Order: sequence, then structure tokens, then C-alpha cells
Amino acid sequence: MKKLFAALVFAVLPAIAFANTGHGPELDSVDIDLTDKAAMQDGARTFANYCMGCHSAKFQRYERVADDLGIPHELMLSNLVFTGAKIGDLMKNSMSPVDAKKWFGAAPPDLTLVARVRGNDWLYSYLRNFYEDPARPWGVNNKIFPNVGMPNVLVGLQGRQVLGCKQVQVVEDGKKQYDPLTGTPLTHEACDQLTIVPKTGKLNEAEFDEKVKNLVTFLAYSANPVKLKSERIGTYVLLYLAFFFVFAYLLKREYWKDVH
Ligand code: HEC
Repeated sequence: MKKLFAALVFAVLPAIAFANTGHGPELDSVDIDLTDKAAMQDGARTFANYCMGCHSAKFQRYERVADDLGIPHELMLSNLVFTGAKIGDLMKNSMSPVDAKKWFGAAPPDLTLVARVRGNDWLYSYLRNFYEDPARPWGVNNKIFPNVGMPNVLVGLQGRQVLGCKQVQVVEDGKKQYDPLTGTPLTHEACDQLTIVPKTGKLNEAEFDEKVKNLVTFLAYSANPVKLKSERIGTYVLLYLAFFFVFAYLLKREYWKDVH
């Protein structure tokens, strides 16, 4: 009975997960290229500098990351490892979950597999959608993850983002609307729009988006470090099967020649 119940729970879980993705704010989509090593190296640097103070990636070793991304070990140790860890160590951090819970209201979760759990688009949107909200303990809120416990750690790069009203184009059924007579875009005032206060961040909007994209590329790699390899092996297997088919067919023809 217990087993049956467990089986049922697992059977409906995906449905619940899907149901969840239908709601909530719209996500910005991002095109991740898991062969772009430069992007992943930049992402790894951002991760070490801005995220590992609180989050770990403890199912991953520094050495594996260095080798996969083509970063020499000494460079990895001097630029990306701040905890005195050795190259073969797991990417842990030293914050205790108890302290973290006290400071942030929630312990920062391990991020090794977060790209699989949340998806690339969610991560890309989440990291770009912090905005100022004096009602929150750290003075920031997030459009994608309302009332999040995490401070906006990338504010120095992105600049201060504020919630306000803006004219935006009317969209119906996923299509942008235009005036049928003049062809000009139809707009309305929306008051859930985010704007960056000019000159408050080190990067401009396009540069910041690129930075976050690189970080998400690194997280996507980290969640599935063998993906590239398995895709390559898959291709070889298919090529082999195609090749083998030709010979199997010729052989069959040879055997059956005298039977017919
Ligand atoms: C000062 C500590 C701190 C830093 C630095 C930090 N985070 Fe967080 N992060 C948190 C906390 C705390 C939470 C949990 C928030 C909650 O559940 O309300 C969190 C949650 C998250 C989540 C949501 C996880 C989930 O699935 O619920 C993601 C993704 C994330 N952080 C990514 C990052 C990235 C990427 C960086 C680096 C750019 C970063 N964080 C830097 C404290 C931090």
C-alpha cells in the first residue's frame, strides 16, 4: 500500500511541476551555448567572486571545472579559489547553514544542480530581476522570486533597479498590437516595469545581460558536465549504426541470393 502511494505521488509530481510553470511572471529566454568555453570561464569567475561567499557547488570539484573549461590549475587556484581549498577539493563554502538561516531567513541552497531544477530561462530572469523595495530586510525584492531572502549581489554591476510605470506595447495572445490605421505600436501604461537608474552600475544593460548569460552558461554546464560528451558519443553511435546497416544489408542480400 505504501509503495503504491509512493508510486502515485511520483506519478503526479511532474504534473504539479508543470502546473507551476504555467503561472507566475513571464521569463526572458536565453540561448545557452555549452561549447562556448570563454563564456563558461567568465561565468565561473563571476560565480567564484559573487556567489560562493554564500552558495556552494559541492557536487563539483575545482579540478574537474578547470579541466573541462580549459583553465590551468595554477590560474584556477589563484583566481577562483578563495577558501584555501586544494585543486582536488569539492567546491564547498564555509558558511554554516544555521548562521545563514539567521541572516537571510533561508539557507542559500547548493547551486551545482540548480540549472536542472529551475531551468536556464528562470535563472537568467531571476538574476536580472532584483529591484529596490525598502519593505524587505535587504532593501530588495525580486519579480521572479517574490520576497526572496537573497540580497542583490550583482547590484554593483547592474546598477540600482527600481519598479515604476512605463509605456509598454500592448500584447494580446502573445502578439504585439499595432494601430490598424497608422501601423504605430499600441501602448499602455504598466506599473510593474523595472528600470535601471543610469550610471549606478559598472556595466551597461547589454554588458550586464551578457555577464548573467555567461554565469547561467556556467551553471548549466555545472548541472550536467557530461552533456557535451554524451551528445558526442550519441552521434558516434548513430553514425556507427548507419554504417553497420549498410553492411548488414549487403550481407543479407548475399545470403538470400540463392534462396529466392
Ligand atoms: C549574501 C549571500 C548570498 C550571495 C552572495 C548569493 N546568494 Fe543566492 N541566495 C542566497 C539566499 C539566502 C537564498 C535563499 C533565498 C530564499 O529561499 O528566500 C539564495 C537563493 C538563490 C537562488 C534560488 C535557489 C532556488 O532554487 O530556490 C539562486 C538561483 C541563487 N541564489 C543564485 C545566486 C547566484 C548565481 C549568486 C551569485 C551571483 C548568488 N546567488 C549569490 C544568498 C546569497
